[in-house]
Amino acid sequence: MAKASPTFVCQNCGASYNRWQGKCEACGEWNTLVEEAGDSAVPVSIRAKRRGRTFKLESLAGKTQDAPRLTSGIAELDRVTGGGFVRGSVLLVGGDPGIGKSTLLTQATSLMAKAGHRTVYISGEEAIAQVRLRAERLGLASAPVELAAETSVEDIIATLSEGAVPRLIVIDSIQTMWTDTVESAPGTVTQVRASAQALIRFAKKSGAAIILVGHVTKDGQIAGPRVVEHMVDAVLSFEGEGSQQFRILRSVKNRFGPTDEIGVFEMTGLGLREVSNPSELFLSERDLGSPGTAVFAGIEGTRPVLVELQALVAPTTLGTPRRAVVGWDSARLSMVLAVLEAHCGVKLSGYDVYFNVAGGLRINEPAADLAAAAALVSSLANSPLPTDAVYFGEISLSGAVRPVAQTPARLKEAAKLGFGRAILPETARGDAPSDAGLSLQTVGGLTSLVADIAARGTPRAAARKREPADRAEKNATPARFRQRES
Ligand code: TYD
Ligand code: MG
Repeated sequence: MAKASPTFVCQNCGASYNRWQGKCEACGEWNTLVEEAGDSAVPVSIRAKRRGRTFKLESLAGKTQDAPRLTSGIAELDRVTGGGFVRGSVLLVGGDPGIGKSTLLTQATSLMAKAGHRTVYISGEEAIAQVRLRAERLGLASAPVELAAETSVEDIIATLSEGAVPRLIVIDSIQTMWTDTVESAPGTVTQVRASAQALIRFAKKSGAAIILVGHVTKDGQIAGPRVVEHMVDAVLSFEGEGSQQFRILRSVKNRFGPTDEIGVFEMTGLGLREVSNPSELFLSERDLGSPGTAVFAGIEGTRPVLVELQALVAPTTLGTPRRAVVGWDSARLSMVLAVLEAHCGVKLSGYDVYFNVAGGLRINEPAADLAAAAALVSSLANSPLPTDAVYFGEISLSGAVRPVAQTPARLKEAAKLGFGRAILPETARGDAPSDAGLSLQTVGGLTSLVADIAARGTPRAAARKREPADRAEKNATPARFRQRES
C-alpha cells in the first residue's frame, strides 16, 4: 500500500496543504498548520468498494410537519434558539473559557430533566465530581440528569443508542472528543470535524437534540469551532466582559430561527440569572448629568434595548491621536468622526477619542450613529446632554440624519423607562405613535444637533486655559497699578 502523503491542516480554519508553510493562505493566520495523518474519516479501501444505494426523491411541495421544539425552561435561551431546541438538530455553543457555557447548559439540562425529559450531560473536560459540585452550587443536584465523563465518540454513541432516546444531549466540549476513524490527535481540526460529523449523524438518525460546546481560542493551538460552524444547524455565541457579570447569548447562525436575537443573563453566585428587561440593567448605573454620555434607543432582534453610549474626547499628546472603541465598530466611529469634522466643523484631529458601550453590549445597528455623535460632541463641548432624552438615527456621509426602522418600539420602551423626550430623524415622525408620551425633537442634519449641544457647553480646554491666563495677567501688573485698580 502506498504511504499516504502527509497533510498539514490549519487549526484555525481547516484548510489543508501538502507541505508546511508559515501562513495559512485561506484565513491568513500564522503558525496554525499542524501535520495530521489523513484528512478523510473513511479509509480509501472501504470508500472504493461501496456501491451507492438508491433513494426516493421528494417534491418541494410535500407535507412537512412543523419542527417540533423542546423548550428549555430558560426563556432567554429559548428566545435565542427561536422557541426551543429542535429535535434531531445540532447546536454549537461557543465562547471564551470561563464565560459560563457549562453553567448555562447544566441549568438547561437540569430544568429539562425536571420537566420529565431524558437528558444526558457528557463532560470531556471535567470529572463527574466537578460537574456534581457545580450542580450542587446551582441548587440543581436533585435533577435526574444522566452524567458521564467520556471522550470517545464511538462509546458515547453506543451507550446513547441503547434504551429510550434522550431528548437532549450536551457534549462539553467538542474539542475533547475523539473518534477511532481518524488517526489525528484529539483537539485537531480533523478529529473535531470527524467527531462532530459522527454526532450530527447520530442526532439526525435518533431525533435527539445535541448541544456541542466549543472553545474559542485566539491562538491556533486548539482547533477553533470554525470548522464545525458549517456543519451544525445553529451556532450560539456566549459573550461578556470577564470583569462584568452580564452575559449575552447571541445567535450567529440558525437554520430554524432568527439570528439577531440576544438573550441576556447575569452571572450570580447561584448561577446564571435571566434578565428579562435588559434596558433597566444597562441603564442601572448611569452617571447622570456628566458630559459625554447619551442614551441610545436600540433594537436587538425583536426587543428594544436602551443602552448608554459613553465618549471621552481628550487632547492628545501623540502625533497620531488614539481611537479606542469597545462594543461598537471602529470603522463606524471613524466615519462619524469624519462626518463631524467635514460637515459640522468639529475639529477632532488633535484629540484622542475613547468610546464605550455600557454593560458589555455590542451594537451593530447603524441607528446608533446619532447617539454616538451626540456623546462625542457632548464630551468635546463639555456639555451634558439632557438626562431624560434618548437618541437614535443613522448618519449618512453627507451629514444628513436618516430614518431607521421600528421607531414606535424604540419610543415605547423609552417612555416605559421614564424618558421624556426623543431626538430622532425628521422623517421618522410620521410612523411615531402619538400616544408615546414623549416629546419628539427631530433633526434633519447633524449640524443643527452639534450647534445645539455646543451652545449649551463650556469648552473645557478653553475654560481651563482662561483661568491661569487671567491670574498671570494680574501677577504681571505692577503693584502700584493693581492698588489703583481696586
Ligand atoms: P463555566 O460554566 O465553568 O465556564 P465555561 O464552561 O464557559 O468555561 O463558568 C465558569 C465561571 O463562572 C467561573 O469563573 C465561576 C463562575 N460561576 C459563578 O460565578 N457562579 C456560579 O454559580 C457558577 C457555577 C460559576
Ligand atoms: Mg466548561
